[in-house]
Formats: sequence, structure tokens, C-alpha cells
Amino acid sequence: MQSIAVVNQKGGVGKTTVTLGIAEAASASGMRVLVIDLDPQANASSGLGIWNARPSIDDVLAEARAGSVNDAIRPSNWPEHGPQPDLVPGSHLLAGREPLLAADPVGAQDRLRLSLAGVDHDLVLIDCPPSLGLLCINGLFAAERAVIVTEPAAWAADGVDLMHNTIERVAGRLGAPRLAGVVVNRVGRTRDNRYWCEQLHDRFGDLVLPQIQLRAAIAEASGQSTSLRALGKRPGAAEAASQFSELWDSLSEVRTLNPASEEPLQSDQPSMPSTID
Ligand SMILES: Nc1ncnc2c1ncn2[C@@H]1O[C@H](COP(=O)(O)OP(=O)(O)O)[C@@H](O)[C@H]1O
Ligand SMILES: [Mg+2]
Repeated sequence: MQSIAVVNQKGGVGKTTVTLGIAEAASASGMRVLVIDLDPQANASSGLGIWNARPSIDDVLAEARAGSVNDAIRPSNWPEHGPQPDLVPGSHLLAGREPLLAADPVGAQDRLRLSLAGVDHDLVLIDCPPSLGLLCINGLFAAERAVIVTEPAAWAADGVDLMHNTIERVAGRLGAPRLAGVVVNRVGRTRDNRYWCEQLHDRFGDLVLPQIQLRAAIAEASGQSTSLRALGKRPGAAEAASQFSELWDSLSEVRTLNPASEEPLQSDQPSMPSTID
């Protein structure tokens, strides 16, 4: 089993979209994929066609028991003829879980990790909430690798740095997760977008993974709780699906080149100019 946490403390950058896009690409390539919805907004669950399901990830985190996640795994509701990742559903109740976790002197940070014992999927994707709180930390503690999702916008690089530092702090204790890379999502064709993409490339170099363009088909797939492949000939759907496959191929390649036993990757972080010339 390999596991990837999809993170950024900022909301709306595309963590859930990228989680589902990778889930679709990896499922389509024949892997058994499990999506864990760790965000109280439960958008990954609705994107997979599941609402208000029990047991949810909140029930899983309520007890400190090895393997407890296995009781909450269910199939997604994506169309049968296409890729069908499994899901551990999210819940709005998760919003109240963080203070309860904080009251556990022993297992506040690694309850999710403990719960994953015995999961036999090929790939576990953890869609993290937009914060650096204990839920996100549980996501990082449970993952072998982390992917930071960002947008080509002002201050994006600073946000990535902050998240990167958090990942390194966790990795310093645990040896994992390693930063698998940075995905720039919602890339449009404007000059401004191009400028901020260049800044992110300058700052993070080889850590920048294949990007995902801004496309109506992507928002449509999640709005209709279906996969990009199920959108059929909808303009842009096949192109978007192929960008996610390229991203997944690149993540698989990086893993082969840098096995998990090595030290976490370090990025080169020159300072960023504060003005546009
Ligand atoms: N590449 C994209 N093209 C078009 N719409 C996108 C793209 N990425 C994300 N969106 C839309 O932007 C919104 C926020 O994305 P989401 O994945 O929910 O962000 P996050 O999980 O980081 O809060 C959603 O409505 C989603 O459909
Ligand atoms: Mg989300």
C-alpha cells in the first residue's frame, strides 16, 4: 500500500479536485484506490456521490483502534463502467473532532495512521482540510508522501513554504511523509497566471509536478458527482483526464526514483521578488 496526503492550509485551491483526479487516473490504470475524506466539508465524498454516510471518518477517529478504518470503507457512486475508487466518507461532525483529539495525550496525531492497519488497497489518498490543525497533522502522520496543491496566484509560494515546513517537521520525527511535489492547479491563459507559474517554478524547481489547467469540465465532473471519463465527449473532459494521468504517472515515477527509505527531499528556496517588472 502506498499513501499520499493532499494538502494546503488554504481552501479552494483544488485539494479535493486533485485528490479525485489522481484517484480516477490511478483507478483507470487498474489500481485499487481508497480516498479518505478528512475535511469536515466532505467535498471528496460528495464528488464521489456519497452524502451523510455512516460510519464516517469521524466514527473512525472517535476510537483509537488499529484497523478501525476498514469498517468504514465503501464503494463510490461513480458510474459502474468507469473507474470506481473506494471511499472512507467525510462528515461535518469532524469539525468537532479536533478538540477531542487534542484531549488525547497519547494518540492525538497518529489515530488515522493507527486506523489504517490492514488496509490492502494499492493507493490511499487522504484529502486534507484547509488548515494546519490536528486533522491535517493526522493526515500527514498517516502518509508516506505529501502533495501540496496550489494556484498560480500572489502569495501562493509563501503558502507552499509554510506547508512544506510543516511536512518537514512531521518527517523530522517520523521519517515520513516526504514531499512528493507541488501541483499548480487552475492554470489559466492569462499573463498573471503565467507570471505566478514561473515564480513557482523558480522557487520550487524540480518539485513542481505536471500542472492542471482551469477547465469547466473539471468543475462539472465534481458538480455532477462523477468521473471525468463518465463525462464522455464533453469538451475538455478527455484533456483534463489526461492531465491527471500525466500527474499520476509523474508521481509514480518520482516514487520509483526516490524510494521511501531515503531522507525526505529538500527543496531549494531562493527568495521571491515582491513586484512584477
Ligand atoms: N482545474 C480546475 N478547473 C476548474 N475548476 C476547478 C479546478 N480545480 C478546482 N476547481 C473548482 O474550484 C473549487 C474549489 O476546488 P476544491 O478542489 O474544492 O478546493 P479545496 O479542496 O482546496 O478547497 C471547486 O468548485 C472545484 O470544482
Ligand atoms: Mg477540499
